[in-house]
Amino acid sequence: MKIIVAKNYEEMSARAFEVMAEVVKTNPQAVLGLATGSTPLGLYRNMIEDHKKNGTSYKQIKTVNLDEYAGLDENSDQSYVYFMRKNLFDSLDIDRKNTNIEDGTASDRKAECARYNALLHELQQDIQVLGIGSNGHIAFNEPGTPFGSETHVVDLTESTIKDNSRLFKNIDEVPRQAFTMGLKNIMNAKKILILANGENKAQAVYGLVKGEVTENVPASVLQLHPDCTLVCDEAAARLIL
Ligand code: GLP
Repeated sequence: MKIIVAKNYEEMSARAFEVMAEVVKTNPQAVLGLATGSTPLGLYRNMIEDHKKNGTSYKQIKTVNLDEYAGLDENSDQSYVYFMRKNLFDSLDIDRKNTNIEDGTASDRKAECARYNALLHELQQDIQVLGIGSNGHIAFNEPGTPFGSETHVVDLTESTIKDNSRLFKNIDEVPRQAFTMGLKNIMNAKKILILANGENKAQAVYGLVKGEVTENVPASVLQLHPDCTLVCDEAAARLIL
């Protein structure tokens, strides 16, 4: 794993953008695996700024997102489909038809997982952006998820519900289930770019980089990926330096 330790969030975002820019500029038809959460927002701001200043085009780019809350749709400002539009897609020249995410409102959840999984088999990610949960989850693959997992519906853990409740009016509004790519779908990406910032991610980053490769720490599977770059700030790197 390649590790880049940045001084702060801004520098982390700029370094992450360098990795992303290389993919987008060398392959205008690339498939980008994208993530939600606070962590990649700075990366997305850099992508938008570059698009506006330098005209980097996303017209032929395709995207696949990691996960979506079960029950939320694009009209909910807490849904990940809404997040992606607001924080990235609306400010790029990307074709909405080329952006993909699980349908949180699907009534047949099994069928929706099968549909999305088939799509992932067609659209191998040239790069997959990831954040990391404080318990070591990636996407919504909680501790104990098999490394061989593909798209599925998960019951969120109490710690994830608590972490993510900061973005909802109150904790009762946080959905208890979500659709997520599985760990095998993530590992299928040609390149992984995982970001982490802040002291509350230090333990998870330790597990990602130096801990035992175990299903108890989903992110640890990335130690087995041939092209994985971690970009983190000094606070998140505290236990690996
Ligand atoms: C959520 C998402 C993950 C994300 C994690 C960390 O649970 N499903 O994809 O990595 O939160 O979020 P944040 O970047 O806000 O710390």
